[in-house]
Amino acid sequence: MSSLSYPTPLYAHAGRGRFEDVYEPAEDSFLFIDALERDADELQGLSPSVCLEVGSGSGVVSAFLASVVGSSALYLCTDVNSLAASCTATTATCNNVALQPVITDLVGRSGIEAAWAGGRRGREVIDRFLPMVTQLLSNQGLFYLVTIVENCPEEIIRLLGEGGLTAVPCLSRRAHNERLSVLRFHRTPPSRALAS
Ligand SMILES: C[S@@+](CC[C@H](N)C(=O)[O-])C[C@H]1O[C@@H](n2cnc3c(N)ncnc32)[C@H](O)[C@@H]1O
Repeated sequence: MSSLSYPTPLYAHAGRGRFEDVYEPAEDSFLFIDALERDADELQGLSPSVCLEVGSGSGVVSAFLASVVGSSALYLCTDVNSLAASCTATTATCNNVALQPVITDLVGRSGIEAAWAGGRRGREVIDRFLPMVTQLLSNQGLFYLVTIVENCPEEIIRLLGEGGLTAVPCLSRRAHNERLSVLRFHRTPPSRALAS
């Protein structure tokens, strides 16, 4: 765990005014940020060149990651909501980081070294994204996923395990009636994959 603490990015514009229809950072966003902060040293050591957030909403999570990892990486932030893309651009400006919002479904066509996705609305989006993760994640890459119990995280772990990824539970927290968890995946080393 990093000894440094990083400030929560400014996001007062999200969820109001012209960004009223953009997801306002909530417990899932903050749990995700807390997980990234805990992994700060490792993420800095990884020094990714491309980071991708699928469903960036306000952009607060990517803005936080950019403040931890630094300006050497390209931060792609996709969202189907064009207002989320504008909001992400505003969040980048407010926090003096460079984020590249992309209006697209899931990932469009990009190669990634670190990726993360949030899911609060069942498995519809997650299930479409999972097969892409095993194809896109680089050998050293990390994939973070926010889940609730209803997403059946054990099944997601099994599915990605079949695709050669190992899961590490990062953080869990109860928020209202939901149990939120952040899972982190990395490629299973070849020797372990053969043994299992
Ligand atoms: C629950 S919000 C999370 C926002 C942000 N990641 C956070 O933690 O604050 C989910 C976001 O995913 C976006 N989204 C939903 N389906 C998507 C898809 N198929 N491709 C890209 N983004 C999508 C929504 O528009 C929304 O902004």
